[in-house]
Amino acid sequence: MSADGRAIERQKTNPLFNDHKLKLGTFSTNLSGGCTISTAEGVFDLNWPNTATLAKLADEMEFEALVPVGRWRGFGGETDFNGRGFESYTWAAGIGGMTNTPSVFSTSHISTVHPVMAAKQGMTIDHITGGRFTLNVVCGWYGPEFEMFGAPLLDHDRRYDLAAEWLTVIKRLWTEEEEFDFAGEFFNLKNLICRPRPVQGPHPVVMSAGTSERGKKFAAQHCDVGFTGPNGLDIDGLRAMVTDYKKMALDEFGRNIMVWSNAFIYQGETEKEAKELYDYCVMEKGDWQAAENLTRTLGIDRRVPDLDAMLKLKENFIAGWGGYPLIGTKEQVVEGLLALAGTGLDGVLLSWPRYIEDMTNFKEVTYPLVVEAGLR
Ligand SMILES: Cc1cc2nc3c(=O)[nH]c(=O)nc-3n(C[C@H](O)[C@H](O)[C@H](O)COP(=O)(O)O)c2cc1C
Repeated sequence: MSADGRAIERQKTNPLFNDHKLKLGTFSTNLSGGCTISTAEGVFDLNWPNTATLAKLADEMEFEALVPVGRWRGFGGETDFNGRGFESYTWAAGIGGMTNTPSVFSTSHISTVHPVMAAKQGMTIDHITGGRFTLNVVCGWYGPEFEMFGAPLLDHDRRYDLAAEWLTVIKRLWTEEEEFDFAGEFFNLKNLICRPRPVQGPHPVVMSAGTSERGKKFAAQHCDVGFTGPNGLDIDGLRAMVTDYKKMALDEFGRNIMVWSNAFIYQGETEKEAKELYDYCVMEKGDWQAAENLTRTLGIDRRVPDLDAMLKLKENFIAGWGGYPLIGTKEQVVEGLLALAGTGLDGVLLSWPRYIEDMTNFKEVTYPLVVEAGLR
């Protein structure tokens, strides 16, 4: 916010709008295990110093995004994957205060946070960070979490109707000059106001994570960024998906949106060493029970055609939350990032199995090559 209380154009404060060819971020650094469902040594152990260490590493590489996962309970198995976690708005406030560059996200389940509270918290984080806040809207899918809140898990598409209303209230709170009332299908609210305004004008950046057609339409219509998993696609498949996604947003809603996805990195001095690390973390030490619980609850096990595909899907979740695989030497990892940039993706959230050790190594040996390759 400028001295006269007016919002600043968000392109000036939020790095998601910078001109880097491929924007980078971290994913799930607020939860135990990070993105890796494994008992392997060095897999992310959650405490504040560790989550802060990852944020600082990202800051030092001038990553654009720090994206937490919204999670309220774990997935069982030997690891109780993601069972220990920091809540994403308070996490973003703390992390925002200790970083300078990245956009700090809060991943918010629509039905666990009232829109007045979400608007107020988001606005506060936007001030803490000088205009680097991004709201990541997720509709949720993990039934036992919703039972914790006594909130019904609506039918899939109805969740997006609710999300549209929830987000409309928030955007109006962030942008309107006058107090207003809101009468919708899900919310009936009076005397709505949120002061001060967020730093970013017209309002903080909004992302939504989802892979279904309905989820993508919601992001295309209401958000600035669509975040979608690669779903086992290869580079050509990803290129087609990104092209279709952006075209749909433009054709149906007249909007240009950014599209982001996620990838995991297993790097070694040699390709053989990288594959051995993968085999150790995933095949030998993977927590297949937690992966089974996760994929079954998410319902994606019903979408795969046979047992082999099911095993591959679980393997991919164990390795890095279903992300795009980047396995090999530092040069091969950079080639993979170049290929991802070539698909039209605006950004990729990264994770590493032994998050702190591997990301530190990436910063020292790989990141200079990423810059040299012209991606940054
Ligand atoms: C990349 C990505 C990140 C997600 N992050 C979260 C999250 O942090 N918390 C959550 O409950 N759901 C998360 N989801 C789940 C989605 O919000 C959504 O509920 C789920 O994908 C089912 O909706 P869909 O069928 O529209 O994809 C994520 C999904 C994707 C694709």
